[in-house]
Amino acid sequence: MSGIRRGPNPRLGFGAALLLAASMLFLSCTRETEGPAQVKYLIGVSQANLSEPWRIAMCEDIKAEAARHKDIRVVFSDASDSTQKQIEDVRHFLSYKVDLLIISPIDSLALTPVVTEAYRTIPVILLDRAVEGFDYTLFIGPDNLQIGREAGRYVTGLLGSSAGTVLEIQGRPGSPPTLGRSNGFNEIISKRKNITVLPPIGADWLKDRAEDNFLERMPASPSVDVVFAQNDSMAYGAYLAEQKAGRKNIKFIGIDGLPGPNGGIDLVRRGILAATFICPTGGKEAIEYGVDILNHREGIPKKIFLRTRKLTPTDLKTEKLPAPYVEATTKPAGKKIVIGFAQVGHESHWREANTVSIKEAVAKAGFDLRFVDCENDPAKQIQAVRDFIKRQVDIIAFSPIVESDWEPALVEAKAAGIPVILIDRAVDTKDDSLWVTYVGSDFLEEGRRAGRWVLDAMKDRGDVKIVELQGTRGSAPAIDRQIGFDETILGHPAFRIVRSESSDFTFEGGRTTMKRILKEDEGRIDVLFAHNDDMALGAIKSMEEAGLKPGRDIKIVSVDSVRTAFEAMIAGKLNCTVECTPLLGPQLVKAVQDYMAGKYLPIRIITSEGVFPAETARSELPNRKY
Ligand code: AHR
Repeated sequence: MSGIRRGPNPRLGFGAALLLAASMLFLSCTRETEGPAQVKYLIGVSQANLSEPWRIAMCEDIKAEAARHKDIRVVFSDASDSTQKQIEDVRHFLSYKVDLLIISPIDSLALTPVVTEAYRTIPVILLDRAVEGFDYTLFIGPDNLQIGREAGRYVTGLLGSSAGTVLEIQGRPGSPPTLGRSNGFNEIISKRKNITVLPPIGADWLKDRAEDNFLERMPASPSVDVVFAQNDSMAYGAYLAEQKAGRKNIKFIGIDGLPGPNGGIDLVRRGILAATFICPTGGKEAIEYGVDILNHREGIPKKIFLRTRKLTPTDLKTEKLPAPYVEATTKPAGKKIVIGFAQVGHESHWREANTVSIKEAVAKAGFDLRFVDCENDPAKQIQAVRDFIKRQVDIIAFSPIVESDWEPALVEAKAAGIPVILIDRAVDTKDDSLWVTYVGSDFLEEGRRAGRWVLDAMKDRGDVKIVELQGTRGSAPAIDRQIGFDETILGHPAFRIVRSESSDFTFEGGRTTMKRILKEDEGRIDVLFAHNDDMALGAIKSMEEAGLKPGRDIKIVSVDSVRTAFEAMIAGKLNCTVECTPLLGPQLVKAVQDYMAGKYLPIRIITSEGVFPAETARSELPNRKY
């Protein structure tokens, strides 16, 4: 991570602020009455534009949260949708020596070099849109795919079983929210054969453009039942166009759920929108995490995704506005927090390291831990969670052995008022309010990273035969690593998975499965992709027993990056390990402390991870903590 300068910025004086104001939009959002000597950190916020209401709301959220911290000052710049201007804005901040950069990039690719430049000297928080690669401290954003899916589910519900026609109005072409929302929406809608989806209209997130483009398109279009606009402003624009055309039958759906006149909430209240989906700006979280980063707090993740929530007229009838988060609580004074933790088992080196990390971090934080090893038995794990409910622990945390069958126990936990934190693995439930947050890895990305390594390592070869050793059937890492890997090699017909078998994440499973495959399969195997290092190490043993040279005759990539994998790479038997860190204890503790302090937690907190090819093994081994 980049270094953080400590101590007051020597150039925080009023004169300097004015200098900055000459070329940037400067909003002094901290205390006017206080002298600069009290300000310890200067934060630069590079905003993509201030023409979208959602971005204005983001700045307001940043200002409101910053005002709660006496020792920070925030300066803003507005790039007015010009990438060149945004690059200059960042350079300006750097020359002004800000202590932290918060940036919402206009264009991920074009902004990557300057973000990398900034990250060399200061921490960088990306808001809403990412850049290429991993040269940043933390990404904060909405889960656009999920928002799109939620909108899709709502629209299918709205149409019931009847046939219908749907029109999508999209934001800026090619931007991540445009793609994510559209993919999520269409994934759900395409399952219904009697729903016709018209070619989308583009409107660059803008109300007026949506109004114009909708008016232009509609006379020629067949009748539409539902308009799904990727933000509320465009939904409103399309609604106004519809009014002008004198028609009134369409239902309009939007995204953002902003407060204020003509914000999504107001539009739903006035019956203009049938629903909106809250898309939190992340401004509040950017300052909260920014302050934690500047103060070197432990447990800072790499990415956090914020929750969404549907708002319909019925939701708005309640007195209190429904929020996208699960309500936080505050710790009762003088009471020691008790955490019930239901661990998967002790199937791998990874799991052992995970258990140590949880136990150490929880003890260091001064919490009480009730720990149950569930020995890879899903029924035993559900029972452990029910026991925690009976004993009324303060927090239940667990790493689900499998994704399925969790709904009833989690409903019981919710009814008992006990918050649930998912660690390492996810659950498959319809209602995501049954758990407060998920802390762990991006397993899809791990699968993709393994796939990319294979494509690169074998790029000169034709007809590459791959054997896959999967982890526990039905577990989140096995499901997602497989999807991520498949998705990456898809489109490369020379790469074929010839066998894919489950080996339960254990050394023994990997050994026996590979022994059997080598016996049964006469043909050549070029690559082994194992869902964890332990299975790869077991398979290596069987290959050697069969007279093969693992790492040379068969290239091997696996996931976890445990010490024994580095030793195998140094011995030339393993070619690459994709990191999946088990050191989740500090992040669990941070999530519990934040929750107990009344903070709202993101829906997913994703930890920082890398990829280690064999060439890096010797230099990396001394740094490995597990
Ligand atoms: O859920 C994480 C996986 O579980 C690890 O990759 C594997 O080694 C462990 O058993």
